[in-house]
Amino acid sequence: MDTRLNCNQKKCISVSMMCSRLVGLQETIQIFEQEKIEYLHIDVMDGSFVPNFGLGCDYINRLRELTNIPLDIHLMIDRPEQKLSWMNIKNTDIVSVHYESTPQIQKTIDLLKTYGCKIFLAINPATPIFVLEEILDYIDGVNVLMVNPGFAGQKIIPSTLLKVKKLVYFLNSNGKDDIVVEVDGNITLEYAKQLKDYGASMFVAGTSSLFMSGIDEYAGNIKKLRNAINSKGAIT
Ligand code: DX5
Ligand code: ZN
Repeated sequence: MDTRLNCNQKKCISVSMMCSRLVGLQETIQIFEQEKIEYLHIDVMDGSFVPNFGLGCDYINRLRELTNIPLDIHLMIDRPEQKLSWMNIKNTDIVSVHYESTPQIQKTIDLLKTYGCKIFLAINPATPIFVLEEILDYIDGVNVLMVNPGFAGQKIIPSTLLKVKKLVYFLNSNGKDDIVVEVDGNITLEYAKQLKDYGASMFVAGTSSLFMSGIDEYAGNIKKLRNAINSKGAIT
């Protein structure tokens, strides 16, 4: 069993590839492999569900030629159920679909099941956690957007911090503590520590942590984030 997939037993880092420069990409990926990064976070954006265009199907295919690190594909697109077949989804991937992106979320989850991948439901900052109630049996994780999705470098929306704590309580009280809680957006070392204490176990590393500086500091930045998410004891 690839331990990378076991993000509810161990804390995982998912590197936001929209923040990764193309210059020196191969060397960058070698650093990720050396630091045992568990996932590469791929923000797929259609310019409609979010006001930005992001990484596309061809990028996904080219990236797979460079590394075997599994992909954490974050679909920020309208009506994902109509487009899953475009994505060359592997059974080692995580695929997050947004609750807000289709009136057919159950049908989309059923369709995703046919790919054998891990299925995460992504929820925007203003979407309440009770929308999960009827689909807890069908998902492997929840991607909690801590910012309004679409752009790197944004500031966390404060209400999302307590939302993560409430979500973990909600999952545990429904006997679903095996559902992974991923946090995505402005995950600094401090927020990572706080969210780890609240029960998050998968952390999107972007400009707020890993890519704060140049490639010569990526390994050190990953180690700092690893320490933050594995640190003992609650934050003061
Ligand atoms: C948000 C993106 C993330 C993340 C990037 O839409 O999905 O990839 O924000 O990391 P930061 O927020 O640290 O730049
Ligand atoms: Zn994302």
